[in-house]
Amino acid sequence: MQWKPNRASHLTLHEQIYDWISTRIQQGEWTIGTILPSQRKLAETLDVNRSTIIQVLDELKANGILETRIGGSTYVSNSSWNLLLQKEQANWHHHIHASIHEANIHTIQLINEYEQNQTIIRLGTGELSPDLLPTTLLEQSFRNLTIQARDISYSEPKGSKKLRIALTEYLRKRGINTSPESILITSGAIQALQLISVGLLEQQSNIFLESPSYLQSIQPFQSAGMRVFPVKRVRQLIEKLQTLKGKKQSLFYCVPTLNNPSGNILSLDERKKLLELCTSLQIPIIEDDVYHELAFVDTPPAMKSLDQAGQVIYIGSVSKTLSPGLRIGWLVAPEPVIHRLADVKMQMDYGSSGFSQQIVAHWLTTDLYEKHLEKLREQLKTRANFVIEILLQYFKEVATWETPIGGFYIWLRFNEPIVNKAFFQQLIKQNVLINPGYLYDPKDFHHIRLSYAYATLEELKEGLQLVLQVVKQKNQ
Ligand SMILES: Cc1ncc(COP(=O)(O)O)c(C=O)c1O
Repeated sequence: MQWKPNRASHLTLHEQIYDWISTRIQQGEWTIGTILPSQRKLAETLDVNRSTIIQVLDELKANGILETRIGGSTYVSNSSWNLLLQKEQANWHHHIHASIHEANIHTIQLINEYEQNQTIIRLGTGELSPDLLPTTLLEQSFRNLTIQARDISYSEPKGSKKLRIALTEYLRKRGINTSPESILITSGAIQALQLISVGLLEQQSNIFLESPSYLQSIQPFQSAGMRVFPVKRVRQLIEKLQTLKGKKQSLFYCVPTLNNPSGNILSLDERKKLLELCTSLQIPIIEDDVYHELAFVDTPPAMKSLDQAGQVIYIGSVSKTLSPGLRIGWLVAPEPVIHRLADVKMQMDYGSSGFSQQIVAHWLTTDLYEKHLEKLREQLKTRANFVIEILLQYFKEVATWETPIGGFYIWLRFNEPIVNKAFFQQLIKQNVLINPGYLYDPKDFHHIRLSYAYATLEELKEGLQLVLQVVKQKNQ
């Protein structure tokens, strides 16, 4: 026997020896019936007191893993393996349930799982279809890029300087005047939300959000022990903000330009009112602006561009426009906030992919990105029109919707409250994957988030016919 307990370990000698014997049995090295060395021999080889060995063996016997024959020898019991296995599994369950982070909503887990099926028709996916991704141009830029050693080393806490400088110019066109020091590069917009939830707020803070909201479908704030208050209209939000603002910290999250899932765009007046109110109550606003470049119409300026008081934390990303796989997003905020969140990010991942940051900087500083966006908007518009035609032809009796003014989604409302989990699962049986409205508003059983961005036109047509069949069965 080579192994000896480690006296410097945080585990006691007893715990280490217990684990060591259990592992031998579990891994099949000591099979059922194996006679263990005597207590004296074990104590000698493991270099511990005999009393420690006696205690460990007693505990293993009490747990049914070892038995002692009348003659005195100790051996591995018949039920040892099962017992160890059960114990192990029960332990993991305990660890999982007691852990800090919430599990994904079960429907989201199923969506993530079924999305791996290449043949399923994905009617809800919030991602560009493979034919809309600029794969060839990206491949060319990978080849043309000159990479310096520092570009692919650990980057500085706020992210690549080159990319942050490129972003200041990009943001200036969005009406946001900022400096590279006030920008943090993140691994997608979702990491920006996670950083805010763990780095900026106290537990049990109040998070106000528009309803429906993308934020209901993910759990960063809920996992950090915060309470979420959905509100339907800006006026209602204003009332709620005033009444609920107590001692707890509060924050307002919104997607003012092309909301996910509703596609809604807040008017300039609504933006100004919200900003004014949040500023007077000192409630920070998170403006999630990941879809703004996909608008088919002119849109009001970003809330961040109207912000004189440093009240707005602005989030952007290339996931919806260029490639979600690059995992590049950004966060714009007053310097102390950026400093704090950069420090938290360094503890999490030592920075986002250096390679991806170089690619995005390259696309922003050449005309590649702008040209790609122009084409993309046209392609998305064509897809949106195609789906609207299908809806007009077949869905008028069963649902209502608004013609999209950009982005990926149609917030399709069925007349009857049929969109429950059974409906979602019934469609999976038909090989169709949808994003039900209850993911974005837990009380909503009328809507689905219909995405015209991902599936092929043929799939969109076929998938919608299958949805219609199931809806008609439900309505009978
Ligand atoms: C409104 C909104 N914010 C953030 C994200 C996350 O984006 P990223 O891929 O950049 O993390 C999404 C993705 O669906 C989204 O719809």
